[in-house]
Amino acid sequence: MNANAAPLLVGTNLKMNQTAAETGRFITELADVLLRSFGLYFVIPPFTSLAEAVRARDESGLPVWIGAQNMHWEASGAFTGEISAAMLTALGVDLVLLGHAERRWLFHETDEDLQRKVQAALAAGLRVLLCVGETAGERANAVGLETVGRQLKIALNGVATDRAPLLQVAYEPVWSIGAGGTPAKPEDIAPVAAAIRGLLASQFGDGGGAIPILYGGSVDPTNAGLFLRVPEISGLFVGRAAWTPPGFLAIVDAARDASGRQT
Ligand code: PGA
Repeated sequence: MNANAAPLLVGTNLKMNQTAAETGRFITELADVLLRSFGLYFVIPPFTSLAEAVRARDESGLPVWIGAQNMHWEASGAFTGEISAAMLTALGVDLVLLGHAERRWLFHETDEDLQRKVQAALAAGLRVLLCVGETAGERANAVGLETVGRQLKIALNGVATDRAPLLQVAYEPVWSIGAGGTPAKPEDIAPVAAAIRGLLASQFGDGGGAIPILYGGSVDPTNAGLFLRVPEISGLFVGRAAWTPPGFLAIVDAARDASGRQT
């Protein structure tokens, strides 16, 4: 599969930014332009913005998935500070982000935690955006592919083939994320994207060939097109550069130009 064969998927993780009112305005402002555009979109705000994001999405008619940044694998119980899959689906949330590098390194999430979360999210009918990516140290020691393979295989172990349509995978090298990050080069991404595709195809068969693989890490309007020309990459997962409506829309424009699609 190449970038032009799969539906283009562009979205942003707002991380710990924006109040509920700010997220509502963000989605409302995106709506006018994106309704006339192409592709699939998603916005992943903080938990406190989810209800307002869903409301703004429904009011505007914007075809955008609203996602949560994390969840617990248990359905309910004594887990102070945590949120369950059922709480997310009851709000009208479409997707949950699992395994973002900041969750792994700042909050010590393990591959085994993520396996439980993936299972619980899929059982609840949530879409899953699973992040994988190696650290700078792993890259320097030439074990990046092993890290990504381990993360993917453990998180998805036991997932049935009929769940494949709910899955999205984002390759986000840790060294490329955030203010100190360096955007990856297409030649860095291509072998990893091919390996991810191979693992997905071996687990899910034909369904694995259709799972979107996104690139994330210091994406901006000047480099978005480069990433979408990498075989197997059919979407972009964006942080800082997409936190304003003009920023988000500039990336959508760059993606559209790179994919040769019409609005
Ligand atoms: P960035 O964040 O685009 O600001 O580098 C990406 C991410 O953390 O997913």
